[in-house]
Amino acid sequence: MTPMRIAVFASGGGSNLGALFSHFDDPRAARVGTIVCVASDKAGAGALARARERGVNALVLADHQDGLALRTLMHEHEVDLVVLAGYLKLVPPEIVASWPGRILNVHPSLLPAFGGAGMYGSRVHTAVIASGARVSGATVHFVNEHYDRGAIAAQWPVPVYPGDTPADLAARVLQIEHRLLPLVAEAVAGGELALGEDGRVHGHIGVAPAESAPPSTRFSLAGPHPVPPGLPPLDAHDADAVARTAFANDVARLYPR
Ligand code: GRF
Repeated sequence: MTPMRIAVFASGGGSNLGALFSHFDDPRAARVGTIVCVASDKAGAGALARARERGVNALVLADHQDGLALRTLMHEHEVDLVVLAGYLKLVPPEIVASWPGRILNVHPSLLPAFGGAGMYGSRVHTAVIASGARVSGATVHFVNEHYDRGAIAAQWPVPVYPGDTPADLAARVLQIEHRLLPLVAEAVAGGELALGEDGRVHGHIGVAPAESAPPSTRFSLAGPHPVPPGLPPLDAHDADAVARTAFANDVARLYPR
């Protein structure tokens, strides 16, 4: 299988880009995807510096609305998948239309809540805290012609604690973005997750069995927890209890008060 050629678009510091680079350094992920270029609407974006440090093409988008220029870039670099990692501009509709299911975005809330035009960065977390919500999180979705409205590929919750500042919440959510975005990018590149003709997301994210994943990275993204080898399969009630307990344990461990 030839690895999918991935373009990452970013407007800012690029910590999500850094997480993607690290993830696709792993041989298993590298089998399905490789980052071939990074593009930004901001010439001074830290994300471009990260790309240059790795010898990856760092491209400045003179006009993010120029669909022809974007199309040319994607053809020149033979891009198969675009990942928006902190990219604050709308992708031109003609690009979205000709790349269905091939453009992903990460957003720092549980969409559709706290999303849409103008909802980015600390504005999101300020709105979440002001709403009194007790859970926020990260969303990775397929991009369509509307901000943050495409089909959701994966989400992961984080608690909102009393007294949280927007910066506290942003840091907690960013920690999860750095895990979720690479997992989804790998799953889409590897064909495990896809946007169907029906506009719905098909497939699942294959995560390492809970026992084998290091505690800091273990979280169950979908489906019941794998049953340790040698034990009888859990019935539906027990499986739910295990999932619930594991989730509560994960939250308490991942987000100590
Ligand atoms: C992240 O919070 C992402 O959800 C939002 O922009 C931020 C990008 O951060 N779209 P970074 O540039 O990847 O550090």
